[in-house]
Amino acid sequence: MLEVKDVSYTYRSKYQTIEAVKHVTCDFCTGRLYAVMGPSGSGKSTLLSLLAGLDLPTSGEILVEGSDIASMDRDHYRRETASVVYQSFNLFPLLTALENVMYPLELQGIKKTEAVKTAKRLIMEVGLGEKTYKQFPVAMSGGEQQRIAIARALAAGGKILLADEPTGNLDSVNEANIVELLKKLAHDRGYLVIVITHNQYVGSQADVIYWMRDGQLTLDSAAGRIQV
Ligand SMILES: Nc1ncnc2c1ncn2[C@@H]1O[C@H](COP(=O)(O)OP(=O)(O)OP(=O)(O)O)[C@@H](O)[C@H]1O
Ligand SMILES: [Mg+2]
Repeated sequence: MLEVKDVSYTYRSKYQTIEAVKHVTCDFCTGRLYAVMGPSGSGKSTLLSLLAGLDLPTSGEILVEGSDIASMDRDHYRRETASVVYQSFNLFPLLTALENVMYPLELQGIKKTEAVKTAKRLIMEVGLGEKTYKQFPVAMSGGEQQRIAIARALAAGGKILLADEPTGNLDSVNEANIVELLKKLAHDRGYLVIVITHNQYVGSQADVIYWMRDGQLTLDSAAGRIQV
C-alpha cells in the first residue's frame, strides 16, 4: 500500500547540504509490522517524515495505494491516512486521556456523544480501562501515556501507523506491551505499522526489518521471516 520509489531527501541550509535519504526504494504492505533500524543519523526519522507526508522527497516518489503523496492534499493525508507516534508521547497536557483521544474525532466533526463512545472503545482496545478517562497525562505512567498516544493516532482513522522510537522512554515490561499492541494492530486489525527502533527486541518482533545506513535502505537479509 506504500511504495517508495527512488526517494532522496536533502536538507539544505546556507551552510551545508545533507543528503539524509539516498535513492531509497521499498514497499510496505498492510497487515504487517515493519522495523526500520540503523545507526543514529542514518536517516530513519527523515524517511518517516516523508512517509508521514510532513516533508516531500527532493526526488523520487511515494505512492499511497497508487497515488503520489506529492499530488495529494497532505493535511488530509496526515489527518485521515497516516498517524505518527513519537518517543515523547506528545499528548496535550491540559486535556484528559479521554479528551486527547477524542481530539482527532472532534476535528473530523464527529458529534461529542459519538466521539466519547469511540474514544472509550479505543482506550479499551489499547489495553487501558475507565480509570484513565479523567487522568491528565502528567498523572499517567510512560506506558499508559504511550497507549493513549496510540489510541489518539488510531482515532484519526487511518490505516497507517508510523512510530518513531515509540518505546524509547519505556522500561522493558512496557516496551514489550507496546510491541504486543503494535503487532496486534498489524496482524489482527490490518494496520500497516512502521516502527523506527534502536532496540533489538522490538526489531526481533517485526515481520520485516529494513536496515538504514548513511541514507540508504536495505532489507535485513537475516530477517526474511515473513511467509505471507
Ligand atoms: N532539520 C534538519 N536540518 C538539517 N539536517 C538535518 C535535519 N534533521 C536531520 N538532519 C540530518 O539528516 C541526517 C539524518 O537524520 P535523521 O534524524 O533522519 O537520523 P536518524 O536515523 O533518525 O537518527 P537518530 O537515530 O539519532 O534519531 C543526519 O545527518 C542529521 O544531522
Ligand atoms: Mg531519529
